[in-house]
Amino acid sequence: MKRSTFSSKFGMLAAAVGSAVGLGNIWKFPYLAGENGGGAFIIVYLLCVLFLGVPALLSELSLGYIGRSNGIGAMRNITGNNRWSIIGILGFLGSFIILGFYFVVAGWSLEFVYQSVMGSFIGQSGEVITQNFDTFRFDTWRPYLWTVVFIVLTAVVLYAGVEKGIEKWSKVLMPMLFVIVAYLCVYAIFLPNSGEGYKFYFDFDFSKINADVVIAALGQAFFSLSLGMGAMMIYGSYIEKGTNLAKTSIQIASLDTLVAVLAGLVVFPAVFSFGIDPAAGPQLVFITLPTVFAQMTGGYIFSIFFFLLLAVAALTSTISILEVQIATVAEEFKMNRKLSLVLVSVIMLVVCCMCSYSLIPVEGGNELVFFGVSLFDICDIITSYIILPLGGLLIMLFLGWFYKKEDLHYVLVVETKCSEGLFKVYYFFLRFIAPLLLLAVFLQQLGLF
Ligand code: TRP
Repeated sequence: MKRSTFSSKFGMLAAAVGSAVGLGNIWKFPYLAGENGGGAFIIVYLLCVLFLGVPALLSELSLGYIGRSNGIGAMRNITGNNRWSIIGILGFLGSFIILGFYFVVAGWSLEFVYQSVMGSFIGQSGEVITQNFDTFRFDTWRPYLWTVVFIVLTAVVLYAGVEKGIEKWSKVLMPMLFVIVAYLCVYAIFLPNSGEGYKFYFDFDFSKINADVVIAALGQAFFSLSLGMGAMMIYGSYIEKGTNLAKTSIQIASLDTLVAVLAGLVVFPAVFSFGIDPAAGPQLVFITLPTVFAQMTGGYIFSIFFFLLLAVAALTSTISILEVQIATVAEEFKMNRKLSLVLVSVIMLVVCCMCSYSLIPVEGGNELVFFGVSLFDICDIITSYIILPLGGLLIMLFLGWFYKKEDLHYVLVVETKCSEGLFKVYYFFLRFIAPLLLLAVFLQQLGLF
């Protein structure tokens, strides 16, 4: 059977940018910037994207492009044996873990769209909003319901396949996302005191940069570009032969970074407009912002669009992660694609409900909290700290040290028209700089460095 591919360059780019732009950009990036000193963090982040993100992205896309299969199959096709399939296996397992918490947070975004439409934030105080968030999270059915809705939404898109599902929906959802961010950015300019927000965001105080800031930026660059888990590898395998992979990687990284920076341009003016702490952490988007929306003129509209933005961004990302599971199960177990979709969706339903439940304080102790850490947090920690950096490291080590340079040169320069100079720079980063950076992140995150 002929393997599906994306039918147009724009569609392919929309899908890949859709994967990259997600909760990581709109939920995580602003709070990381807030916690790590604003502007200085952004500079470090940009350098990380350039020196680690782009080479890693190009490597992952290339492996998929060359291997023409899911992570496990692609490595087998390339090497002729199963030794490096560990890259695909790791990513396949990682996809269940990452989606375990990602779908839950994505589900929250739907609840917040709903609450925004119902006008539940209007005129409420911070305490009431915090309390409402907890009431919602600890509810016996609402968070599960939204998570299930999100899984079903993702599955419905994927049911239609690569071209009619992923590509078609990304082509609609991604432009929509850009319009919403742009609208909110402009809107934010006119908030009272927005200048303070910009000042914080563009404050390049380099004394604030330390090892922790660098590590946070490196990890975030990796997560935000959807690297290390075979998601970009799958998309690479759907890219038509001859497409310029180097150019595509640079475009994906630029657009992903643009959305992250723009998300900050929405969040910080709003936060400063009402004198709220920008370093509120993970709850910045779900508690701090609704508090801001509650007091802001036009907050009703602003909040609807903001949470819609979050949901759209999350959807095109969950699509790419669930696709890793569907393609892997379908290709490796020779199963019908639709059957494999139903199978992995049901597994995700169970895993996500368990993750969501693990956040609830239960009398006598929650069964899904281990050593004081909830299953939800365990999933987040294992993926960001172990699976993604390890997957990325293996991919770059393989391509830089075990794959023939001439072959890579042929694919990138001759077949896909990357310039000779760019290839040289890329190859140097691939072999030396990027693996060393990754190794540093990895060791640091394991607490060994
Ligand atoms: N990049 C997405 C975000 O920023 C999340 C994501 C999608 C992801 N696919 C991935 C992260 C694969 C790691 C690996 O929210």
